[in-house]
Amino acid sequence: GTRHPSIPLPVDLFGQWRNSAGIDLNDRAILAETAAAIAATPIANDGTDAVHADPRRASGKAKRKLAATTTPDLAVHEAVTRAQAAYAAWDRRPVEERAAIVERYADLLEEHRTELMALCVKEAFKTIPDAIGEIREAADFCRYYAHQARGLLAPMTLPGPTGERNELRLEGRGTWATVAPWNFPLAIFTGQNIAALVTGNTVVAKPAPQTPMIARRAVELAHEAGVPRDAFILVTGGADVGAELIADVRIAGVAFTGSTATAKRIAHSLLVDEDRAIIPLIAETGGVNAMIVDSTALPEQVVFDVLTSAFRSAGQRCSALRLLLLQEEVADTILEMLRGAMELLVVGDPGDPATDVPPVIDRDAYERLMAYRASVQGSWLKTVPVPDEGLFVPPTLVGIDSVDDLNREWFGPILHVARWQAGTLEATIERVNAKRFGLTMGLHSRIARSAEIAETRARVGNLYVNRSMIGAVVGSQPFGGEGLSGTGPKAGGPHYLPRFCAERAVSIDT
Ligand code: NAD
Ligand code: ALA
Repeated sequence: GTRHPSIPLPVDLFGQWRNSAGIDLNDRAILAETAAAIAATPIANDGTDAVHADPRRASGKAKRKLAATTTPDLAVHEAVTRAQAAYAAWDRRPVEERAAIVERYADLLEEHRTELMALCVKEAFKTIPDAIGEIREAADFCRYYAHQARGLLAPMTLPGPTGERNELRLEGRGTWATVAPWNFPLAIFTGQNIAALVTGNTVVAKPAPQTPMIARRAVELAHEAGVPRDAFILVTGGADVGAELIADVRIAGVAFTGSTATAKRIAHSLLVDEDRAIIPLIAETGGVNAMIVDSTALPEQVVFDVLTSAFRSAGQRCSALRLLLLQEEVADTILEMLRGAMELLVVGDPGDPATDVPPVIDRDAYERLMAYRASVQGSWLKTVPVPDEGLFVPPTLVGIDSVDDLNREWFGPILHVARWQAGTLEATIERVNAKRFGLTMGLHSRIARSAEIAETRARVGNLYVNRSMIGAVVGSQPFGGEGLSGTGPKAGGPHYLPRFCAERAVSIDT
């Protein structure tokens, strides 16, 4: 097919994206600094959806900082009023100024990396490698979107007859509502908000109730970087606050990341008021993501990629592998290797750099996953021991009879396995498509034709061949799904920012 030219990027930027947090897991000094920051972070995730300060652990300085950062938020109505008032001035600022502020914000995220990593560990149970990923991806979003915005928002002159001047401009739409999940409390939160801000919108941002402190620091740092306070306002709370924000008819667009069920509720509520303007909804939701393995795949690589895709982050990634489909001829061998490799998973304290699988986010998630796991106990193919204390869901392999037997997302370290027969690759992909989720899919095969079949038949936003299915890199793997997995825009890709813009054509007879 036709290949579109990629957007040109400054040569030195690419290296910065991949390493923008500048943190190396083998760097003992950084790890020691992070450990100290974790010890000094006076908050604890106690398994409810509110994070509590732990005054016994807070030093005088940390206590003051905590007090300074926990001033009550504005109510939704007042927040939207202020953000609307701030819109015109922010939108009129030259894009270069907004882009420079966003780049300064990326620098601040990196400067504050150990503090932010510690918050990710304490508040969201992120492992150290995942916490590094949060800083890196957040900074990547900033630099990528700043770069994109400079090109995108430059006025474009269009042809016309002599005496007529035609211009096309992209501008902000007004005040956006952003609603974020807890599983990428810094990266996704930053990506949504910076995309809206750099294109000239103001934002009222509602983070997940499980991770308000990370969001609060992110907003404070954005203000420090130069985003006007009223252009970027945080409102905290749960579904009720989110629903109140979405119901505000002054909102000019909604960027939501979370579950499919919530996305549908939001889409519905945007339509019920007949007088309301028709506004864009960007929804990025969940998936029932499959990896198909054929008999030519390299078993060691398959096992490594399965462990990474299914169990890293305790399976709490929308991109995570949920359904492993093994060709009958290699299924027993790969399962045996997988069982052995699962024994080596370190399940434990997220702050310990050796940990592979942390606790799940809260008690509700823990109880939901454990109840489901117990209900399918007769089909367990492997599980591993976990610490007695804490919200640890044991990584578990569950055998199912066919690809059709899993049709909902279990957001945790539970991997379903089924077999498929040689000669049915296309049919197997179609059966995965029939679930109507379309987020990620993996294929492990050394047959070029099989990769081609997957490329043309898989109805997913992100297809991964002969590698893991998680960890999309901004600018390299634009991320987002279709069908029940979302409305389609791809974060970290060249077509994301226009979704946040109004297009205005101006024609003048001179
Ligand atoms: P969730 O849908 O329960 O909550 C997400 C956010 O929506 C939270 O801030 C919540 O308070 C808010 N919310 C809930 N009900 C609302 C309502 N009626 N109106 C407005 N806001 C409302 O999801 P979660 O449990 O926080 O996150 C996990 C889900 O997110 C998983 O399904 C996962 O697959 C998905 N996810 C998708 C992506 C992606 O890019 N596709 C990325 C990360 C997570
Ligand atoms: N962007 C995240 C990943 O690819 C969801 O894992």
